[in-house]
This record gives sequence, C-alpha cells and structure tokens, in this order.
Amino acid sequence: MLYFLRRHISKHLRQHMNVLLIGSGGREHALAWKIAQSRHFTRLFSVPGNTGTGQYGQNVPFPLSDFDAIVDLAQREQIDLLVVGPDNPLADGIVDVFKAAGIPAFGPTAAAARIESSKSFAKEIMAARGVPTAEAMIFDSPVEATAFAQQSGRPWVVKADGLALGKGVVVPDDMESTVAAIARLSATRAGRRLLLEERLEGREVSVHALCDGEHLLVLPTARDHKRFGEGDTGPNTGGMGVIAPVDEVSPAVLEQIVNTCMQPVVDELAARGTPFRGLLYAGVILTRDGPKILEFNARFGDPEAQAILPLLEGDVLEVFYDCAVGQLHPEKLRKRKGYAVCVVLCAQGYPGKPRVGDPIRGVEAIDDEQVLIFHAGTAIGPAGLCTAGGRVIGVTGLGSTLARARARAYEIAERVAFEGKYFRRDIGKENG
Ligand code: AMP
Ligand code: GLY
Repeated sequence: MLYFLRRHISKHLRQHMNVLLIGSGGREHALAWKIAQSRHFTRLFSVPGNTGTGQYGQNVPFPLSDFDAIVDLAQREQIDLLVVGPDNPLADGIVDVFKAAGIPAFGPTAAAARIESSKSFAKEIMAARGVPTAEAMIFDSPVEATAFAQQSGRPWVVKADGLALGKGVVVPDDMESTVAAIARLSATRAGRRLLLEERLEGREVSVHALCDGEHLLVLPTARDHKRFGEGDTGPNTGGMGVIAPVDEVSPAVLEQIVNTCMQPVVDELAARGTPFRGLLYAGVILTRDGPKILEFNARFGDPEAQAILPLLEGDVLEVFYDCAVGQLHPEKLRKRKGYAVCVVLCAQGYPGKPRVGDPIRGVEAIDDEQVLIFHAGTAIGPAGLCTAGGRVIGVTGLGSTLARARARAYEIAERVAFEGKYFRRDIGKENG
C-alpha cells in the first residue's frame, strides 16, 4: 500500500513546494525568478544552475546526464515538482525517470518530446492530422539525398533529424550549397537521417503554449532573432533577442495557428498514448498560404522565456504543477498588457568559442523595475561577476509600447559593461 501511494502522483497541490530546476541559461534564471513569486514556493534546487538561479536557492553541479544522482537529490530534498529547461534531458527521458519515482514533472516524456528531438517524427505526426508545414523528403543515406537534390535541379532546406544545438538547419540559396550542407550535416550524429524541405517565405513567429496532455494555454507570441548580425545576417545562434507579443499576429491568426497547427498535434500525441505535458513551442512561418509549422520544440525557447515570462500574471508554479498532473486551469494565468524586449549580450567569439573570465560591471547599479537582468553565461570569480559563456546576460525591458520596452532594454544593454561585449542593436526595430 505504501508502495502504491508513493508511486501514485498526487493531483493535489501542496501549500509548500520544493522545486528542482534543470538547466543553466537565461531561460532558467527567468523560470526561477517567476517560480519564486509563487505563493507555494518554498525551496529551489537547480542542476547545474547559474548565477541567476543561485539567487533563489541552491545550485547543484551534477552533469545533466546523471539521472540517478538527480533523482537521489530530488528524493533527499523532498522535491514536489521537477521543471526542465533544456531539450536534451527531455529527449533522454528525465521525465520518465521522475515519473517512475513518483515525482511530478513539468515537461514531456521522451516519447512526447520526440516532437522536437526527431524532425521526421514531427512530420509524421503533422501528416497524420493534416497540419500545414513544408513538404519534406526523408533520407537515411546522404548519397540518395544528394542524388535527389541534384535531380530536382533546385536548392532545398537541409535539416538534421536529431537535436543539434540549433546548428542542424541550413537554408541554401543554390544547388552547390545544398549538396555541401547534405555532406556536412550527414557527418554529424544528429544528421544520420536528413530532411530535404521546400523553402517557405514569410515572417516568423514563435507560439508558446502550456499543455496538460489535452488542453493548451497559449502564452504571448514572440519573435526571436536567431542570426548573429543586424538585419538578420551572419551565422545562426541560439537567439540574440526577442520581442513579445508580436502585433502582426492578430487574434484570428493566432486562433488559426492553435486550431490548425498545435491542437491537432496534441490530439495526435494523446491518441498514440504519449500525451504531451509541458511547454509546446511552435515555430511558425506566416506564408501567403497561411501559417505553417517550421518546427516544434518541447520546451521554452531561450531567450523567448526571458520576454514571455515577465508578461504573465498569475502563479506559474501552480500552473506548471497542473500541467504535470494533467489538469490545466487556463484561468489561473493572465497576459499582462504591454510589451517585453529582450536583448542578449554576448561574449567575444560567440557563436564560436567565447572568451571567458572578463569582469562584468554595471549590473548592481540597475534600479528600474521595468528592466530585468537574466544571467546566462556568468560566474562569480575572485574579482566578482565575470563572463563564463557565449550568451552572457539577457536584458529585458518592459513597457506599455514596444518602443518604450525597447528603449529601456537598450539603455541598460549599453550600461552593462564587459570586454568584448556584443549585442544586436535592431531587436524590435520596425516590427522586429
Ligand atoms: P528550425 O530549427 O527548423 O526552426 O530552423 C531554423 C531556422 O531555419 C528557422 O527559424 C527558419 O528561419 C529557417 N527555416 C527552417 N525551415 C525552413 C523552411 N522550410 N523554409 C524557410 N526557412 C526555413
Ligand atoms: N531561441 C530558440 C530556441 O530556444 O529554440
């Protein structure tokens, strides 16, 4: 009986909740910041965490792959909810391991996370429900993919099937670079299987929604700026800045995205016995033929989370718990009026190998409640706060208009100082 009780996840929220957060980016700082506002919040442990999450609890430096150590920690510290930031532990089944231990988890099981971790699986799910997306051919052999591309006589978007740290997609302009992309991606682990996709044209938008396996609670729309250089030039990065919400997505278009692109996928995963619980992120392109899916992610975007979470009113910890146990109450969260603009400050060398260890000045002096500083790659060294990663800090400005939010973010982005600092100056400019 005791055994049964331990394994049966209680649907009842506890008054005092201990949370275990996985990840170490600006996204996780933003999650910790928002979770700590909950009336249920008691203690936070972060694995491995960063300077930001450390402000709300204890960082524990386990490797993300050591699930045994992480579950041990959760049992020892009587964790009530696991919250997973990044994609890799989800794909590797951290939520399955916690479920087996009887600990609720906000995040999908490995089977449901395949919507992100396998692009060919995502295409299969979308095809089963007629979700609008780019036509794609799937290849397990680079020779066949190359032959197909050459025969077609035109360039194709080349995608690695698996998780590739945001480096698994190439959008070539000609045949020669299509063939080169096939050769390069097929040599990576993620690219043992490849997709060749038709190239779509349009502006992009990210739609994040909380999901309890059945229902969706849609969060403010966002637009990431993935390219390193201003005017969307240069190499792809994890994300250089975000605006939220995106005004050009009308309520009618958003409803269309949810009804034709997102809910069908949730329904299909549930029908297959692998319901999606956690955060479903739809990467959408607004084409002349309507919105189409570019990709799904099974987690909050980073830096998207740094702009979206500050626009939410309500107790996210409660809502994450409700998702984990399969009973979302959409009325518990509201969208704040106004806008958020997040500008990412990077270290010299990013998106390649970043220079680290440079002192960061000017963060403590910020005293504006409309500006939030989220730590990503920072550390506390002998001389105080210093750089410790490629994306160093996210500066989020809030405001009643996009222009005001933007002005606040940029004022502080200028003021925070470290050697080699780089940021894009055009986040949110002219509709972003
Ligand atoms: P993904 O990781 O699949 O979202 O791809 C990364 C980026 O590549 C997207 O944000 C788009 O800018 C671009 N992309 C991906 N697929 C396509 C496509 N079929 N047509 C045009 N651009 C694409
Ligand atoms: N910023 C893009 C992502 O998190 O996938």
